[in-house]
Parts: sequence; structure tokens; C-alpha cells
Amino acid sequence: EKQGFKHFMLKEIYEQPGVVRACLEAYFPASAETPVTLGLPEEFYVDLEQIQIVACGTSWHAALVGKYLLEQLAEIPTQVQYASEFRYAPSPLTANTLTIGVTQSGETADTLAALSMEKERRQGKEAKYQVRLLGITNRPESTLGQMVSNIINTHGGIEIGVAATKTFIAQLMAFYGLALDVAYRRQTITAERLTEIIAGLRQLPAEIEAILETQERYIEQLVHDFAETKDFIFVGRGINFPIALEGALKLKEISYIHAEGYPAGEMKHGPIALLDAKVPVVAIAMPGSVYEKVISNAQEAKARDSRLIGVTSVNDGEAAEIFNDLIPVAEVEELLSPILTVIPLQLLAYHIAARRGLDVDQPRNLAKSVTVE
Ligand code: F6R
Repeated sequence: EKQGFKHFMLKEIYEQPGVVRACLEAYFPASAETPVTLGLPEEFYVDLEQIQIVACGTSWHAALVGKYLLEQLAEIPTQVQYASEFRYAPSPLTANTLTIGVTQSGETADTLAALSMEKERRQGKEAKYQVRLLGITNRPESTLGQMVSNIINTHGGIEIGVAATKTFIAQLMAFYGLALDVAYRRQTITAERLTEIIAGLRQLPAEIEAILETQERYIEQLVHDFAETKDFIFVGRGINFPIALEGALKLKEISYIHAEGYPAGEMKHGPIALLDAKVPVVAIAMPGSVYEKVISNAQEAKARDSRLIGVTSVNDGEAAEIFNDLIPVAEVEELLSPILTVIPLQLLAYHIAARRGLDVDQPRNLAKSVTVE
């Protein structure tokens, strides 16, 4: 069943180009009349004023990327909350607030409880309160699927590795679909821009394949140097900040190494005190609005003797000089880059854990669906 891969996690990492293709076909079918097809009712979009998203773990990271897209493309103020926190301190409800629950399994107790509370407090109010509930899940047949009538199915296929990889990529694709759909209807982006972004999305499967083909061996070798490493820091900014969080979570989950993700600009406000030659820093530095800033934050880390690993599409002298190790990914539109930058981070976590001989698919203390609150 592992089809020659040593672990399900690695097999699932390799399935990601196919997952992106399946999502492209589902959300952006070339034959459709509208650029995006999500199958949501018309009333869903009317007068939408704000969005709140609830999720846990990796799904919460996907939601943070989603927030960025919904705000930057569709211009809708969006908040992301941990489901376990939202339940006890929900944001005030208005008629035009959309609440989205993101859960790959559709069975996470905290996310279900947050949504069920949300559903209850909307009951007895006008119809538009009822329609503004949406689930994003990889399992439409799940408890979430039965609870909420509006669903975006994420087409990740069954994921066996406990650490989410391909279902995360699928959730990101669902957010591209949703943000572009809403942006198109609200006309917050031009038709040309929409076409350009969708064309960029269609290139991603081949670009993920290129990373897998050219970088996996390199990363497998690179991890030899981290046999004794006890702490890792991941930094990114803008749309890649949540990817830094995700890289750190993957690493701690399966390798049990202490890892933290930070927005690169926050390092100087405290965490930089942690840095020395024993603490490597992984910096996501994609060209776009924050590249120069990430580079200068990386320089600050280097000045503390940290080994710097760069995930970037820039391969100039400056990058070569700053980064001790450079993991190249294709240059894409900044908004689309998370789909590529997360791939080397998944491989890094995987190879560090595999090299330590750990049970990558079934890490200690974790379960695939967390059905306790
Ligand atoms: C991380 C991971 C967990 C889940 C979290 C939410 O690799 O697997 O953090 O993302 O438990 O699970 P779902 O998406 O099923 O609600």
C-alpha cells in the first residue's frame, strides 16, 4: 500500500501534485461559465461583510493563509480563531458574518463544538444567518458534513500519516477557490488579474514535482548535519508566515524536536535571544512585498551564528552569501508561493524524523482525528 515509499507520509507528500490537479479540476473547470465553481448557493455571497474561521492545528495554519487571500483578494475583513478558544469567547455575531470551520477529518471535537455553538446561536434568526455557515473538509461524509449544509470538499484523498501534508495543500487550494470566487463576484480584482492567478495555479503541480525531483535527495543529505539539533526556528512574513508555523509544527510532531515559527519581523522583539550556533533558522524568502525584509531579518539571525537555511527562488550572489543552505523553489506569484514553500519544510521534517528512526506515520501522543475536547 505504501507503493515503494518507506512511510505513508512520504507517499502522501508525493501525491500532492495530483491533489492540486484534482482541486483545480473541481474548483476551476476549464469548461465552466464562471471562472470558479464551488457549488454554493447564491444567497451565500449577498452582503458578506466579515468572515471568521475556526480550526485547529494544521487546519488553523491553512485558515491563516485563507485570511490573507480573503482580505487581499476579496477585501473582506477576516479573523482566524482556534476552535478551542472561540467556543468560550465567540466574536459578536452579525447577520453578515460568515463562519467557516476547517477540518480535514470533519471529526475534530473542538471544531465541531465551535460550529455547533455557532449554528445554535443563529437559530431562530433570519434566513441569511443560517446560510452563512461553511465547512471546508476532506471528508464530506463526516460529522461536519452532516452538520453544515455548505461544504467545500478538499479532494485530498485518504491521508494515513498522522501529520497532515496533502490535506493541508488541498485546504490551501479550497481557500484559493473561495477567495477568488468571492473576489470575482464582488469585483475586487480585475478579470485579467483573475485569469493570471488561475493560470499561475495551473502551473503549480509541475512546480511541486520539480521540487520533489530535485530537492528530496539534497534535503535527505542535509539532515545529517542535524542529528544533535534540539531546537529549530522557522521564519516567514506575509502569506508565508503561516507556512513557517506549519514547518515548525510538522517538525515537532514527528521528530520531537523543539521548533517555533515566527513572523520574521518579530524575532528582534524577543525570540532572537534564543539564537546561537546550535539553533538553525529556516527562512522562507520569496520575492515579492517582503523579500528584502526577510533577508535583513535573516542577516540578524546569522550575526548570532545561527545556521541559515533558505527556501527561496532567488539564486543571486546575495542569497548565496547569506544562506548556508539554499533550497530552491520556482519563482511564482507571491500569493501562490505557500503551495511551493511548504514542500521543502515537509521533506525536512520527514527526513529528520526518519533519520532518527522514529515512527513517522504514528507519532507518539497524537491521533489522526482528535475527538476529545
Ligand atoms: C498536524 C495535524 C493536526 C491537525 C489538527 C486538526 O499535522 O495533523 O494539527 O491538523 O488536529 O485536524 P482536522 O483538520 O482533522 O480538524
